[in-house]
Amino acid sequence: MAYLADTVFADWPRVQYAELITLDRFTPRVHLVQLADNPETRLVVKYVSSDTAKGNIWKEMNILKTQQLHPSILPIDRLILDNNNCIVGMGTKFVPGGNLNRNKDRTFKLKWLKQLTEALDFLHFDQGIVHGDLHMGNILVDEAADRLVLCDFSMAREATQRNLIEEFWSVTWTLYELITLDFTAEEEQVQNSQRENGVYSLNTESIEKLPRWTVRTKLDCDAETFRSYLREWIKVRRETLQSVKARKPETMINFSERGRIQWEGPIHGCQGIQSRTIRMNHQY
Ligand SMILES: Nc1ncnc2c1ncn2[C@@H]1O[C@H](COP(=O)(O)OP(=O)(O)OP(=O)(O)O)[C@@H](O)[C@H]1O
Ligand SMILES: [Mg+2]
Repeated sequence: MAYLADTVFADWPRVQYAELITLDRFTPRVHLVQLADNPETRLVVKYVSSDTAKGNIWKEMNILKTQQLHPSILPIDRLILDNNNCIVGMGTKFVPGGNLNRNKDRTFKLKWLKQLTEALDFLHFDQGIVHGDLHMGNILVDEAADRLVLCDFSMAREATQRNLIEEFWSVTWTLYELITLDFTAEEEQVQNSQRENGVYSLNTESIEKLPRWTVRTKLDCDAETFRSYLREWIKVRRETLQSVKARKPETMINFSERGRIQWEGPIHGCQGIQSRTIRMNHQY
């Protein structure tokens, strides 16, 4: 655990864990909460976990420590502290529209896909990192702002050419799954690549060559327009791979001896909502 005063977050807004009322559990360590003394304020809190397979929350906090990095990237609203003033989690403002797996009746807009690629351009070119875990569960819809918002940067990595290509594949799978609600093709792709080449690969050739993607979601224009927009974006981005300056995200913040206490926190046996894609389970 990190003692707040030792970190770059020393002067950040904070709230004590004891002041939170849990309203819902999205995953074992990601909860919707309200503040006891201000029930209007709803936050989504992600708690520190020692499970490294879950990604690195300190890395996520280091990326999000620049307030309002981009309109499609959720900044940290406040830090969550235990009684010893150690950081035990981070809170972001609750986006009521939820992620793309929720509310299947919602009409997906072409402008949202454009916002997504713009946000990725910003991450890649400006920050030198890839999101690293793009799937429908990590993309929220801020309906009031009419905007897609990225969350969950715990798998972010440096934007090497290889990682950029994988990010392009992930966006393509995300769009494919969003439009078709077919979550099995991706699983088949991974299994085939493991069987044939012994590697985990999210190569998108199999879905790119399909003449038509069966539409099972409401879209504000035809599916082919979405596909060709994405195809064109990836084509241009592939031609400019070398102009991205990769930067390794920081994975640590300052730890002091007094902060080296294990915090059990609120993570106990809750199943939470499982991701519908297998990308989330892939370890980097
Ligand atoms: N600010 C927010 N508003 C609404 N929903 C959110 C917000 N932040 C996160 N969520 C929801 O919580 C889910 C889990 O959060 P996140 O993706 O950051 O954690 P995770 O690393 O996938 O969780 P875990 O490691 O516990 O499996 C997201 O898929 C999203 O649906
Ligand atoms: Mg997630």
